[in-house]
Amino acid sequence: MKILVTSALPYANGNLHLGHLAGAYLPADIYVRYQRLKKRDVIYICGTDEHGVPVTISAEKLHKTPHEVVDYYYTSIKKSFKDFGMTFDNFSRTTLPIHHRLAQDFFLKIYKKGYIYPKEIEQHYCSRCKRFLPDRYIIGTCPKCGTEGARGDQCEACGHWLEPFQLIAPKCLVCGEMPKKTKTKHWYFKLSAFQDKLNAWIEKKTDWKETVLTFVKGWLKEGIEDRPITRDLSWGVPVPLDEAQKKVLYVWFDAPIGYISSTIEWAEKCGKPDVWKEYWLNKDTKLVHFIGKDNIVFHALIWPAMLMAYGDYILPSDIPANQFLNLEGDKFSTSKNYAIWLPDYLKNFDADSLRYTLTRNAPEARDTDFTWRDFQAWHNNELADILGNFVNRTLTFINKYYNSSVPKASTFIDSDKRMLDILSKAPTTIGKRIEHFEFKNGLQETMKVVQEANRYFDQEKPWTTRKTEPARCERTMYVCMNIVTSLAVLIEPFLPFTSEKIKKMINFIPQDWDAIAKPKVAPTLGNIEILFTKINDDVISEQVAQLKQEEITIEDFKKVVLKTAIVLEAESVEGSTNLIRCMIEVGNKKRHIVAGIGRYYKPEDLINKTIIIVENLKPAKIRGVLSQGMLLAAEGKEGIILLTTDKPMSSGGIVK
Ligand code: MF3
Ligand code: ZN
Repeated sequence: MKILVTSALPYANGNLHLGHLAGAYLPADIYVRYQRLKKRDVIYICGTDEHGVPVTISAEKLHKTPHEVVDYYYTSIKKSFKDFGMTFDNFSRTTLPIHHRLAQDFFLKIYKKGYIYPKEIEQHYCSRCKRFLPDRYIIGTCPKCGTEGARGDQCEACGHWLEPFQLIAPKCLVCGEMPKKTKTKHWYFKLSAFQDKLNAWIEKKTDWKETVLTFVKGWLKEGIEDRPITRDLSWGVPVPLDEAQKKVLYVWFDAPIGYISSTIEWAEKCGKPDVWKEYWLNKDTKLVHFIGKDNIVFHALIWPAMLMAYGDYILPSDIPANQFLNLEGDKFSTSKNYAIWLPDYLKNFDADSLRYTLTRNAPEARDTDFTWRDFQAWHNNELADILGNFVNRTLTFINKYYNSSVPKASTFIDSDKRMLDILSKAPTTIGKRIEHFEFKNGLQETMKVVQEANRYFDQEKPWTTRKTEPARCERTMYVCMNIVTSLAVLIEPFLPFTSEKIKKMINFIPQDWDAIAKPKVAPTLGNIEILFTKINDDVISEQVAQLKQEEITIEDFKKVVLKTAIVLEAESVEGSTNLIRCMIEVGNKKRHIVAGIGRYYKPEDLINKTIIIVENLKPAKIRGVLSQGMLLAAEGKEGIILLTTDKPMSSGGIVK
């Protein structure tokens, strides 16, 4: 059997954040690394998705061409993946000629078979921008859940796939203009023709993840409709028909074909240009697509229908889609810059600490939450105190008392046998979990072995037996070296960088997943280094603070009306040492505000000062006293200091 693993092709329009990694990439990499250790014929295929409106929108925002944008992010994304240990066999791009050719071939063959047909339709046209608006260029209110700001293709809040005309109160994303309906011609994929075939196909997928099946069956039950697969855009794979000038393929039509074109590219790079066929045209290939839940409909319905329509290629065997990862209780949001970007993470921490956290807390069955405090706790209490500790105590002991040569043993007592038994069963137990896409459980089983190992070390007390029963001590340390050697392999899918470090320290003799049930231990040790240094509170606090700092647009800022005001009267608020009530003049209006500056200013100091206030703050009662606005002051190590103007100035001036 061959195994062909793919991860969703990320859009080359921005960097990746933790949510991406947890969803479609890390689990796939764990799976692939494991399969390689099992000596199975597996390839891992990915690349960047470089077409579509996500790219053109980013380009417009950044005042760059789409080409510049995708070139930049292809490189950046590829680097992030490498830094996190993703082991793709090929990482391609959908702008390559090889992909364009294949996508056009797909279109033409399906077209000739009669599953693609043209249709005259009405489409949103923005008369200010002078162009047709593809779905993502339109925002409006979702007709299903009522959320505002839903995109024309999908509502992020409820996950519903939409047609732009379904949006209530549609607006042009670029200029805000209400678009007009205008006639244009598009080509439709006859998805409806595959309803029965898809039903029958999904019926047989009884072992798929519950969450995926529920989603897909829901879609099928609603009845699937034909979908337009062309767009009026200048960026994308040109539609290979003479009558379709200036039209490109819908990005979701071309992107999954990228799985095949990337495999073809891989074969060419290997110097065996036909070897890709042994995967894609082979009924014995297990094709596994790792994705996030927002991609389910495309991978589990449309893509299989495309493959059915085309005819030659295999269909997906499994689609272990993940749910979403949240961040400190909120959704990741690229537009609000609420995210932890992979390149930023790496400035402060190691890749394996994140791989550990994201797997330990994987959104496999439901959405989960990433918090910096969990990250710190798991790194310190589990990676450092359990795994790091066991490896370190074993190796330093052997280094110190046996001069780095590993003791040998051949007869064992019950406690040793128990430990060796746990070790020999571990590859099967952990392997089963990984094969079933239960990476969280797999990691847990792995850590259980390490916990047992620490317990064994504690109970055997080699620091005592070294003097009282030297033979027993040798046995203990021999068993411990067996554990460390096994762990170097068992943790490899999850923590590849740590695995590498351990292997160096123990002069590892190469072994595969099954052989590790009875490890071969190298006779001597190499240099020992600490695997995990603890992460301090202040480092984590800084990360938390950074996250809370939200970026705002100039429009957001303009909502706050700041004006100059002159203090006419000021008095302490009765019963409070800190509150001062001021009567201020703002232009020709007078109003009262209450400020918490009494520890730094006496009321009389304020009279006649020109201060800055927020004029449009909702009035609020502070200690029973009404405050109609707020004055601005800066807080620093000098205490609280009022903001005033550089020169005396009349009140009512607008601050901007
Ligand atoms: N670029 C898409 C996303 O980030 C995923 C494309 S997956 C593929 O949501 F199958 F189309 F390649
Ligand atoms: Zn517009």
